[in-house]
Formats: sequence, structure tokens, C-alpha cells
Amino acid sequence: MKGLDHVAILVSDLDAAIRLYRDVYGLELAEVEEVPSEKVRVAIFGHGSGRIELVSPSGPDSPMAKTIEKRGEGLHHVCLEVPDIEKAMAALKDQGAPLLDEKPRAGAGGARVAFVHPKGSRGVLVELRQGPRNA
Ligand code: CO
Repeated sequence: MKGLDHVAILVSDLDAAIRLYRDVYGLELAEVEEVPSEKVRVAIFGHGSGRIELVSPSGPDSPMAKTIEKRGEGLHHVCLEVPDIEKAMAALKDQGAPLLDEKPRAGAGGARVAFVHPKGSRGVLVELRQGPRNA
């Protein structure tokens, strides 16, 4: 693992959350993106490692809408950057980590990602990410 790539915060109203992080916290909004495969809209603040990613359901049928209903808004996952996602997944699997994905899937920014269940990471959903960095 190379280190922290981003933290993701689940929000119900992306535009309101963007105003908070951009105008109140003064962070630089790098991009807003729709990820249709996950039924979410994503806003990314900052560049390089340590970005903040706001994730919002793109419709009522989004799995994220159900998560907000159940647990409310808040920290959703921590993402670690990996140089080789297949290798990282295999190494974690060997050590008994509860991977939520059998294979890498498409994430924001054209990256390949996979998730580890919170029960394997002391209560935090962990995303592994290999791919083109948000420049
Ligand atoms: Co993420």
C-alpha cells in the first residue's frame, strides 16, 4: 500500500455539501463526476493524496440512498492507493481479509477499485485504488 488516497464522505445533498467544503472550508473543488455503475455523483476536493471525496446518491434507487436512510450521512470509506490492485487483493485474501469484490471494478476517475468489509478493518470500509490519479 502506498498510503492514503482519499477519504469519502456520504452526503444526501451534493450541491449543499460542495458549498460547505468549497465556500466554508475553502477547499479547491477539482471535479464533479457521475459514476453510473454505482449510481452516485462524486465531488473531489484537492489533488494527489489526501483528497476528500463527497459521495451522493444519484437517485432514490441508489444503494447509497439506502445507506443514508440506515446510518445517515458521514464518513463512508478510507481509500488506500495500491500499485497493483490484483496483487494487493491476493495478499489481503491470503491473510483472511473479507474482500467485498472478487475482481477490481470501475471507480471514479477511471481507476480500478475494490473494497474490504469494515469487519476486517476495525469498523472502517476500506477501498483499494489503482489508477490514474486525479491530476
Ligand atoms: Co472512494
